[in-house]
Amino acid sequence: MRVIRCKDYHDMSRKAANIISAQVILKPDAILGLATGSSPIGTYQQLIDWYKKGDIDFSQVHTYNLDEYRGLTYEDPQSYHYFMRKNFFDSVNIDLANTHVPDGADSDIEHACTSYDAMVKAAGYVDLQLLGIGRNGHIGFNEPDEVFSKGTHCVDLTPSTIEANSRLFDSPDQVPRQAYTMGIQTIMHARRIILVASGTEKAQAVKDMIYGPVTPKVPASILQLHTNCTVVADAAALSLCPNS
Ligand code: GLP
Repeated sequence: MRVIRCKDYHDMSRKAANIISAQVILKPDAILGLATGSSPIGTYQQLIDWYKKGDIDFSQVHTYNLDEYRGLTYEDPQSYHYFMRKNFFDSVNIDLANTHVPDGADSDIEHACTSYDAMVKAAGYVDLQLLGIGRNGHIGFNEPDEVFSKGTHCVDLTPSTIEANSRLFDSPDQVPRQAYTMGIQTIMHARRIILVASGTEKAQAVKDMIYGPVTPKVPASILQLHTNCTVVADAAALSLCPNS
């Protein structure tokens, strides 16, 4: 696991965007695994800026998002479908038909999960997976558990995740209690992983991810076993990691 220490959120976002940009320049039809949350928004903004300057072309890129709230349609402003269009897809020349997010409106859990897994597998898995990290060490919506998950599955969100994500809703009651998420095994299939982390509220999770034991109780700790994983984090997120 490589760690890139950044000054602040802006520096983190530019460095992460640089790596994604290099991936797309080297392989114009790259398959990107994308994430939601506040952490990658600056990365998307930087990529949009470079697209507008003519430096990056997304016309052949395909994307697979990590997760979606169960029960939200793609038009719902709180859905991750909507988030992706608003924060990235609508501002670059990506073909929306090449973008994929689990279908939160599919109430058939088995169908929603197996069909998403089949699509990611048929695509040959992703070239570069962008990840954020939850305060409890979750990636995607893979919450702390007794075992590492494999494929896409439905999760019950933990009270800490509901509380953390409630800032984006009018009240905690409105946060969906379940989500569909790619599993750990699918994430580990990515040929390269970039995890962005910013702020002191992530410091303990970042420390546990990098230095702690590999355990499903800190889902991100599995990334220690990935052969090409880079953590791009600001000084605040690395404040409990004196060695990096
Ligand atoms: C959600 C998402 C994760 C994201 C996490 C942290 O739970 N499912 O993919 O990493 O939030 O979000 P933020 O970057 O806003 O702290």
